[in-house]
Amino acid sequence: MFASRTNWNLAENRLTIATAEHRRSGRPFFDLTISNPTECGFAYDEPAILAALSSPASLHYQPTAQGLLSAREAVAAYYREKKAAVAAPDLFLTTSTSEAYSYLFRLLCNPGDEVLIPSPSYPLFDFLADINDVRLVRYPLVYDHGWQLDFSSLERAITPRTRAAIVVHPNNPTGHYATLREQTQLSTLCAQNNLAIIADEVFLDFAVQGTAAPTFAAQNNALTFTLSGISKLCGLPQMKAAWIAIAGLDGLKNAARARLEVIADSFLSMSAPIQHALPALLATRAAFQSQLLVRVRANLAQLDAQLAAQTLCSRLAFEAGWNVVLRVPATQSGELLALALLTDHGVLVHPGHFYDFSQDGYLVLSLITTERTFQEGVRRLLCHFT
Ligand SMILES: Cc1ncc(COP(=O)(O)O)c(C=O)c1O
Repeated sequence: MFASRTNWNLAENRLTIATAEHRRSGRPFFDLTISNPTECGFAYDEPAILAALSSPASLHYQPTAQGLLSAREAVAAYYREKKAAVAAPDLFLTTSTSEAYSYLFRLLCNPGDEVLIPSPSYPLFDFLADINDVRLVRYPLVYDHGWQLDFSSLERAITPRTRAAIVVHPNNPTGHYATLREQTQLSTLCAQNNLAIIADEVFLDFAVQGTAAPTFAAQNNALTFTLSGISKLCGLPQMKAAWIAIAGLDGLKNAARARLEVIADSFLSMSAPIQHALPALLATRAAFQSQLLVRVRANLAQLDAQLAAQTLCSRLAFEAGWNVVLRVPATQSGELLALALLTDHGVLVHPGHFYDFSQDGYLVLSLITTERTFQEGVRRLLCHFT
């Protein structure tokens, strides 16, 4: 009855089952995996957000494959602030970056074609690849006083079936930016091998110190698709608004735009109220981002203070984003460790293998958790190892 691409193992994993049981038990629970910003106690500009959704213009249907010009102009203004010349005609609105990935896989790949993805990275790509009949090939990020792209492995991973390289900038969960040198090197490598770049920049603005790294939208050596959206930039995942910015040499860029237009036109997935609201929703990002960064910095300082009082666990270097990686003694599998932390200490964390770490001994913690939960959760976590 069903397509083999949907033959997934749909059984819940042991950690999910144990978490549900723990919640039901009513025992103390410290969730250090929270990624939903709307449940983290941030103050949103509610009147502005609700007013943005009530434009009378939404009573009319104006189907446009790329999305309403007024909304795309607001996204272009976001890139102007970053000194990247992204014009409205080079933007496509989508309901999420996941949908944007899907469009791009359909644009670039025949069934069985390959896309390079970083490892470790966010566990979203496997399902998106399956759904679109794409084969993912991992290229490792290496850690040596900070994360780096491993260009020799990346180059070795290219085959005649490779169509694109994904770069997550900054990466989730490693929290590292691709440096400008890495961006240029990746762009040159992709241009030489006729590959597109898909740059996922949903966390671009969340630099924990200093300023954010430059956007890939300013790179035009290779055909480059930069993805972002308001689910992270404005902390509004429920609004479902994201985009693709295309950069590259004119011939390729125009060909990509024309084909993408047919894909987007076949779905017309953006709703009118959200498109009309997008300029006002984007305008709320500064207030959201400053609150979020206060939270991230406070939690990071708390983590560092607690880590300084012991020697067994440490944290990896981190530049931007909402997650941090802890290095812990690898005395048991990541799954068993996460289960023990939950049942013995009431702390929920993600084991590194959820994010494709190839070895045990890594845990991923959300830095957007409320300060109180974070402080007690980390205290309990570290107790496990002492
Ligand atoms: C790196 C990365 N890209 C994309 C997404 C999904 O974003 P969206 O809500 O726009 O689909 C996430 C969600 O956590 C993410 O971590």
